[in-house]
Amino acid sequence: MSDLGVISLEQDTPELARSYEQAGILQFHHGKFLIGPLALKAGDRVLDVGAGTGRLAEFVAGLVGPEGHVVGIDPLENRIAIAQLRQSDNLRFSVGRAEDLSHFETGEFDAVYLNSVFHWIEDKRRTLQEVHRVLKPGGRLGLNIQDPSKPHQTRILLGEAIVQAGFADRGGEAHRVLGTDEDELRILFADAGLIEYRSNLRSLSDLYEDTDAVLKWSEASAFGNFLDRFSQSERDRIRVIFADLLEAKRVPEGLRLERYLRFAFARKPDPSSTGS
Ligand SMILES: C[S@@+](CC[C@H](N)C(=O)[O-])C[C@H]1O[C@@H](n2cnc3c(N)ncnc32)[C@H](O)[C@@H]1O
Repeated sequence: MSDLGVISLEQDTPELARSYEQAGILQFHHGKFLIGPLALKAGDRVLDVGAGTGRLAEFVAGLVGPEGHVVGIDPLENRIAIAQLRQSDNLRFSVGRAEDLSHFETGEFDAVYLNSVFHWIEDKRRTLQEVHRVLKPGGRLGLNIQDPSKPHQTRILLGEAIVQAGFADRGGEAHRVLGTDEDELRILFADAGLIEYRSNLRSLSDLYEDTDAVLKWSEASAFGNFLDRFSQSERDRIRVIFADLLEAKRVPEGLRLERYLRFAFARKPDPSSTGS
């Protein structure tokens, strides 16, 4: 069991991976905001870090076409097993972590992206150094990350439910994510040698059928690092209060919740071109 100080990669299960694959369409649509500004073209070689079950990588493989190539890595074997069902001539998946890209050549990729992954990574500095190394000169990076000043509405309401259920002493968080504010992010990018940093905070609307759909999605996207320091009866208590609080978010189509992601982009300098 993890506590709020540790993000564990050991708690994923085949069931959570399947449930992520079913509901991951939300993340896929948000991911497209990441892909557009990368301006991918036919023939590009692209690395998807933290590819999950591979839906976005499959879309990107379509963009770069048969002359291009997409590689997706993720530390969770259960997710990679599903992603590998999507493999094709220009799309490959393997188990791997952002902090260690040593199995890739220096300057191998035209673009690297991380969709809803960076806030899970403990060693962000090392990750960006690795990304910088595997990018070609002039290669592009895009990622999105939770912003500490704008937590998702689900997190706020769950935090409130945890407190109202009487567990304030254990912290009002369902799980820990390692969000980074704009200034820190800019510095991390610059320290890794990436240039032309730009970012924007987006508000994204997610629609859920009911409370259980919200909880199921949260658990699957946190690969088990979710309410995991509470017993089943404590979780049940939190769930009842959470369901009440969610009523404030009801619209005719279901429950509408906003989440906020900062989208950040940069590139590796190209000494052979003027201006960098
Ligand atoms: C919310 S999912 C996003 C999956 C996928 N990018 C998508 O768009 O559907 C977060 C992913 O981050 C991955 N992850 C967590 N820690 C990681 C690390 N250190 N290196 C690479 N991926 C990591 C998880 O395994 C998980 O698949």
